[in-house]
Amino acid sequence: MDNKFYVTTPIYYPSGRFHIGTAYTTVLADSIKKYHALKGENTYMLTGTDEHGQKIEEKAKEANKSPKEYVDEMAEMAKKLWEKMGIEYNDFIQTTEPRHEKIVQKIFDKFMEQGDIYKGEYEGWYCVPCETYFTQTQLVDGKCPDCGRKVKLMKEEAYFFNMKKYADRLLKYYEEHPDFIKPEYRKSEMINNFIKPGLEDLCVTRTSFDWGIKVLKDPKHVIYVWVDALTNYLTAIGYMSEDETLFKKYWPADLQIVGKDIARFHLIYWPIFLMALDLPLPKTILVHNWIMMKDGKMSKSKGNVIYPEDLVDRYGLDATRYFLLREVPVNQDGLFTPEAFIERYNFDLCNDLSNLLNRTVSMVNKYYNGILPEYNGTPNNVDKEMEEFTIKQIEEFDQKWNNYEIAISIQEIWNLISRTNKYIDETQPWILVKENENEKLQSCMYHLVESLRKIAILISPFMNQTAKNILRQLGIKEEKLKTWNSLYENDKLTNIKVIEKGEPIFMRLNVEEEVEYIKNLMKG
Ligand code: MSP
Repeated sequence: MDNKFYVTTPIYYPSGRFHIGTAYTTVLADSIKKYHALKGENTYMLTGTDEHGQKIEEKAKEANKSPKEYVDEMAEMAKKLWEKMGIEYNDFIQTTEPRHEKIVQKIFDKFMEQGDIYKGEYEGWYCVPCETYFTQTQLVDGKCPDCGRKVKLMKEEAYFFNMKKYADRLLKYYEEHPDFIKPEYRKSEMINNFIKPGLEDLCVTRTSFDWGIKVLKDPKHVIYVWVDALTNYLTAIGYMSEDETLFKKYWPADLQIVGKDIARFHLIYWPIFLMALDLPLPKTILVHNWIMMKDGKMSKSKGNVIYPEDLVDRYGLDATRYFLLREVPVNQDGLFTPEAFIERYNFDLCNDLSNLLNRTVSMVNKYYNGILPEYNGTPNNVDKEMEEFTIKQIEEFDQKWNNYEIAISIQEIWNLISRTNKYIDETQPWILVKENENEKLQSCMYHLVESLRKIAILISPFMNQTAKNILRQLGIKEEKLKTWNSLYENDKLTNIKVIEKGEPIFMRLNVEEEVEYIKNLMKG
């Protein structure tokens, strides 16, 4: 089935409250899903929580709860947050659900039977919070290369997955599928840093802790994090279960979104597991960078953590979603500063978008008592240029969005917003009305409303409330948001009556006050 789009987020560790970094990945996935839905595709989005491992076990203990009680509560918290953030996932998987655990055991058995997994002994430097062993050479200043914390030397009997066996096949796959990894530079990173130096076999079980899925044939071993975690993308849609309908419909995934820290697991181990299962690989794995703070990574101890609910409560859902997608380009780190947040709000949302709507609504009211005059369909030169520019921007947006250059594609919409504002200044409707240039004035009003209609459709995958609000104020039916193809046509816009008094969708914020407000949020 071609007309489907299956998108996944990583499953998050439920080891604490989710900050805006976690929200970023999820908002990205949700917006991309909605864009494909807008195009009439049959979409499916999966998210969830990664609930096994030593660290979760410890967290539960700290909270005086059984691990299962703890992770269930955390999963509820995650669901509430996603609801608040307007995330429309189709399924939420918890790795402690039987539908997942049973299949992970089957997959593990299959790997053993095929000889992909063998028993050996593992010795290495183990980072408890990251649940990862490192070799001596991977350590940075003797510490965990991922989180910078202390590691300890540990040794245990363990099962290993024979990665080496698949290394050449993987390289060939990379070569033959240029869309598999985005952005492109992540591919060379994998090849040069991990594959060329010699792929190491991956340790896939532990005996050092309990909180995990047991190996059926050797139950003192618990299946270690990556075989358990990565396979969620399959188990959630019923792979190897009695009912494989969803799996048949949606696999392979069209897009899997992951942060840079887990790129290696998704770009190397994951495709190799899939090869070993003889399954097709996802079409694209998109690796995004991180939201950073002025003083580096977000961390509670630094007191620089921002939680998404706090931003939504104060500034609204759409402003928060807009900021995340606009300010954090997928291919490089983005910076969160209170100043940047307020600036984007005041300039992009208030000055550019909100004012455009307001000017338009008030002019249609002033010149035509709120009723948009019929347009005769023959654009004059200025209008024609505006129409051509609009089509060009829609195409630019579409092409970049499809290549997952989300921040830049959003900028293309804002170019259209600026151009439309400029169109008002060029056509000077207040002069047209004085000079009785009726036809030109009608055409101008039509083009403004029409541009806003298109802008509403374009922003609807990531700023749905605002898109609806724009149409409501213009007197256009909400269903019109569902018609991607109508972006390429001029809608007749008959019987349009704008609301009597425009309502600003975004009100200018006081910079100093709000910067202070956000700084306080960060202090916790
Ligand atoms: N449980 C694993 C993933 C298993 S997927 C089969 C995990 N969980 S996590 O909760 O630690 O991280 C989840 C995601 O959040 C990762 O993609 C990570 O990159 C992302 N982010 C964590 N901090 C982030 C920022 N500051 N900015 C953007 N994304 C960030 O890893």
